[in-house]
Amino acid sequence: MQPHDKRTEEICSEFAKVFDGKPTHVAIAPGRVNLIGEHTDYNDGFVLPVALDKDVRVVFRPRTDRRVRLYAVEFDSWADFDLDSLAFNNDVFWANYTMGVAWALEEAGVRLAGLEGVVSGNVPRGSGLSSSAALEISNALALLSAAGAPDALTGTEIAKAAQHAENVFVGVNCGIMDQFISTLGEEGQALLIDCRSLDYQRVPFPDGASLVIGNTKASRSLANSAYNERRAQCEEGVARLQSVLPAITALRDVTSAQLEEHSGLLSPVVYRRCRHVVGENERVMATVAALAAGDLDEVGRLMNTSHESLRDDYAVSSDALDAMVDAMRSVPGCLGARLTGAGFGGCAVALVSKGHERAVRDAIFERYSKAMNIWPDVYTSPASAGARVMPID
Ligand code: GLA
Repeated sequence: MQPHDKRTEEICSEFAKVFDGKPTHVAIAPGRVNLIGEHTDYNDGFVLPVALDKDVRVVFRPRTDRRVRLYAVEFDSWADFDLDSLAFNNDVFWANYTMGVAWALEEAGVRLAGLEGVVSGNVPRGSGLSSSAALEISNALALLSAAGAPDALTGTEIAKAAQHAENVFVGVNCGIMDQFISTLGEEGQALLIDCRSLDYQRVPFPDGASLVIGNTKASRSLANSAYNERRAQCEEGVARLQSVLPAITALRDVTSAQLEEHSGLLSPVVYRRCRHVVGENERVMATVAALAAGDLDEVGRLMNTSHESLRDDYAVSSDALDAMVDAMRSVPGCLGARLTGAGFGGCAVALVSKGHERAVRDAIFERYSKAMNIWPDVYTSPASAGARVMPID
């Protein structure tokens, strides 16, 4: 990616309109799509996301004081604050991500400096493709760079700081997956992330397949409260299972056989939530093995099973997501399809044999729009690079 590609140049022109002079750097952080491993990250489990070729960018230059002035093109609004007086902003919601990240980076021990910049993104917002993580991570890299401390924290530490910002400052109880893959994603690779140790491993994205992402454009209004409810149900499952399995600290530690043996300790709903998480962790590892063996049919089958489990056991699908997945699977070249991200709306992802992308796309437009009376969006993306900062000359 060249620092002077067209999008960066356009954002630089915006910079020239709102500030005098030129920016010195651009920070870029991608959105993500998760191949498999859904609702496992906050259970200390495994995930397998890829970074997308859609991102949030900040063009910026440092200031000598501690003031941050950031203009967001798509929102046509400003985050304008002093690093010494951070307070939740009810009027400019996105500014809380910037402030939260600044707060978390200083909590992590980095003394920041001010900056002025323009932020712009093309990750679809509110669609389960992690536009928030991309905003957080691009802002984090810009703040670190403006402070003259681009290497003060590792990628993992940056991801953790951004998650902390979202959990505590913004008030959204997300796991680590989105920030992690946005920071550390690599071209041509999925990442197998162990969300307990935060170790990760590259898993080459298969040559013979592409990702097709279908955006249901359906509202996700209940997502936040339902997400928190699922987390609480997982915690309840762990607490009950600890009476017979004292060594476990998360559902990550429970096998399918153990869950079956002790299912009588759990309410039917909590049992089903646990069954999803335990099975999903096993499916992630099976997917990595199938990818290594070049068995794409098996990868697709595991993705299908993941969707069914999210729909029936975890209850985070929706009519729109089910209709999207049906439309994708109606094309023979579709190897597998599932909802991706938190669910309740947003996007589904299909693994498609090379050459069949167009057919899947056409089927989505035709079948999904007919079933739901909503015009969807469709994206394709290679597995792309993670976040980076580059100078602008
Ligand atoms: C959201 C959260 C992630 C993860 C997924 C579900 O994207 O931000 O941390 O929990 O939902 O897998």
